[in-house]
Amino acid sequence: MARVALVTGGTRGIGAEISRALQRAGRTVVASYAGNDEAARAFSSETGIKSMRFDAGDFGECQAAVEKIHGEHGPIEILVNNAGITRDATLLKMNRDMWDAVLDTNLGSCFNLCKLTFEGMRQKKFGRIVNIGSINGQAGQYGQVNYAAAKSGIHGFTKALAQEGARFGITVNAIAPGYVDTDMVRAVPADVLQKIIARIPMGRLGKADDIARGVVFLTADEGDFITGSTLSINGGQHMY
Ligand code: CAA
Repeated sequence: MARVALVTGGTRGIGAEISRALQRAGRTVVASYAGNDEAARAFSSETGIKSMRFDAGDFGECQAAVEKIHGEHGPIEILVNNAGITRDATLLKMNRDMWDAVLDTNLGSCFNLCKLTFEGMRQKKFGRIVNIGSINGQAGQYGQVNYAAAKSGIHGFTKALAQEGARFGITVNAIAPGYVDTDMVRAVPADVLQKIIARIPMGRLGKADDIARGVVFLTADEGDFITGSTLSINGGQHMY
């Protein structure tokens, strides 16, 4: 039986490419999304991948979704915590809601879904968790104290949970993407983005597929000795 994979934020941007790549690798994929029904419908009809609407930052909604997936497909053995948002502003202009939204969606979602799937993976003695961090969690970024804190938190979360999962056959790794050509990055003011690209040794933005291939590698059945690692995929922008 194909292993069941859940990709949060899996219908657009980097997540959509991860969903497609896992499907090509023979997984049964469910892609979650927060609100864009139209994009999710288009994605599902093009790929045949089931999309499911729930807020990954809300524990109750995650619980209902995980139970539904379990009932329809079986326990989730591969979890990719990819859902992420930005609310960029300098600290002087950032309010508490902008902080909470980013922490809940980007970091809270990792707790919610790992908590809800870990026991099932433990029983199967198999689990692959990949948390999508960021170069900006490693290096910081002007205007992103919320996002950098959440993504940096993901890197610590990954290393802690990797230690807990090892004896159950569960690997937990992170990928730290650099600036990838998605709607999120296209929203950065053009002049700021040009300066960022000028600092990328490879001279270009990443492609979503550059990240997706990393996920396929880290979630492979034979990848059972790789845990607690962070794979930086950033065109050489930050070597960490
Ligand atoms: N370092 C130092 N100073 C900076 C700076 C930087 N990187 N960026 C801006 N400043 C300075 C400006 O020069 C300006 O100075 P003056 O007042 O002396 O002119 C001051 O800070 C205010 O700058 P802005 O006018 O840009 O301020 P703003 O409030 O209009 O916008 C901002 C601030 C929202 C942070 C905007 O600069 C911005 O969007 N920056 C991009 C942030 C970014 O890279 N986000 C990444 C999104 S993609 C992502 O997150 C995915 C991923 O994982 C990589």
